[in-house]
Amino acid sequence: MSDRPNWAPDTWRRFEALYQPEYEDLDSYDRVLERIRGLPPLVMPAEVEELKQNLVAAGRGEAFVLQGGNCAETFADCNSDSIANKLRILLQMSLILRYGTRKPVVRIGRIAGQYAKPRTVATETIGGEELPTYRGDAVNSWEPIPSARRPDPQRLLDSYFHAASVLNHIRALLLAGFADLHHPFNWNVVTSGNCEAWAEYEGIVERILDAIDFMESIGGVRGEALGKVDFYTSHEGLLLGFEEAMTRKDEETGGFYDLSAHLPWIGARTIGPGSAHVEFFRGVRNPIGVKVGPDAGPEIVIPLLEALNPHNEEGRVVLITRLGAGRVEETLPSLVRSVVGMGMHVVWSCDPMHGNTVRTADGVKTRDFSVILDELTRTHRLLGIHGAHLGGVHFELTAQNVTECIGGAEDLTSADLNQKYQTYCDPRLNNSQSLQIAFQIARMLGV
Ligand code: PEP
Ligand code: CO
Repeated sequence: MSDRPNWAPDTWRRFEALYQPEYEDLDSYDRVLERIRGLPPLVMPAEVEELKQNLVAAGRGEAFVLQGGNCAETFADCNSDSIANKLRILLQMSLILRYGTRKPVVRIGRIAGQYAKPRTVATETIGGEELPTYRGDAVNSWEPIPSARRPDPQRLLDSYFHAASVLNHIRALLLAGFADLHHPFNWNVVTSGNCEAWAEYEGIVERILDAIDFMESIGGVRGEALGKVDFYTSHEGLLLGFEEAMTRKDEETGGFYDLSAHLPWIGARTIGPGSAHVEFFRGVRNPIGVKVGPDAGPEIVIPLLEALNPHNEEGRVVLITRLGAGRVEETLPSLVRSVVGMGMHVVWSCDPMHGNTVRTADGVKTRDFSVILDELTRTHRLLGIHGAHLGGVHFELTAQNVTECIGGAEDLTSADLNQKYQTYCDPRLNNSQSLQIAFQIARMLGV
């Protein structure tokens, strides 16, 4: 008997699917999905299972998950510099975390498919004109004209091909030795400047290289082992028609996998009772990320975990809390006590970005570095007190020197935000803020 009773890739259609685009031309939508169904998968079941094993280790405290990337990836971003920079900042952060925690770091990009956004407001005003909201390149165009904002099903196909192209380049870079520790300055970010975090990073790289030289001189490490880096992809599995079309049955095991990414996640807005998203993702074998906001108490989260992980499999669920620094003390303890009390296996991860978005007096969305750090610190401490541990972190970040979040080494203020505010959705940590937060986490978790 199937271990996913009454489930098929399309049973979600009987439930309420929130935040789905309303297409005018449904025939064209169906044709696009049919085409996607026939295209090759973007990732393979064996890779997905390998990630799950790494998540088992993270759940046991033997590895640490670093998940990060853009809030909204764009098609225009699909070029070699941009992809290499995104990979590089995650590799740099993972090196810092690895060095600080002495644990393997599981790297997961918000990349190669993070093209759909659940927007709470239906319209936005740009240059005095009210327009339908931008919902991510998979749905409509950012261009602020009404016709470009209309949901276009062809964009799902474009998402597939852009994701394929990004992933192909990541795989090629890694195969070509981009991550080889022997050449760590391949990881250098040209724009990184001379900030304090960068000097500290270079110091770590030098110490690691010394250790490698020493080990090699006594025959202790093999070159290939150092060059091999695992990297996984993730995105919010928002557009269920697309995710369904990317789902394939694994002939070997008979199980279904959503092969659009290694780790799809369910957004905080779509975890409620009766959610079509939960129905869809309960049936696929991938590990699943679940975003939890401050209003989702144990009464929501426990049934959700039971639905997604009826056999309490280790490595299956990454529970990503995004509570807001000011609400962690109030909301996290009861959640942790319930999950731990019921013996449920999850990897606890903290997204310190989405609960801490504020607007400046000018109406610009931003996040404060110190508040982000505060949520991480509180989450780490409270998880420990209540019998769990922080197994990972989730960030919106970029390797560019943008000015979107305030604070950090350069001590950006709200007056600096208009210098280089480039995000298509939420404000991201820039290059030095990202390195700096990695140092802070390494210190917090350090041995
Ligand atoms: C996101 O990760 O970009 C997002 C929308 O998050 P959340 O679902 O946690 O609000
Ligand atoms: Co976001």
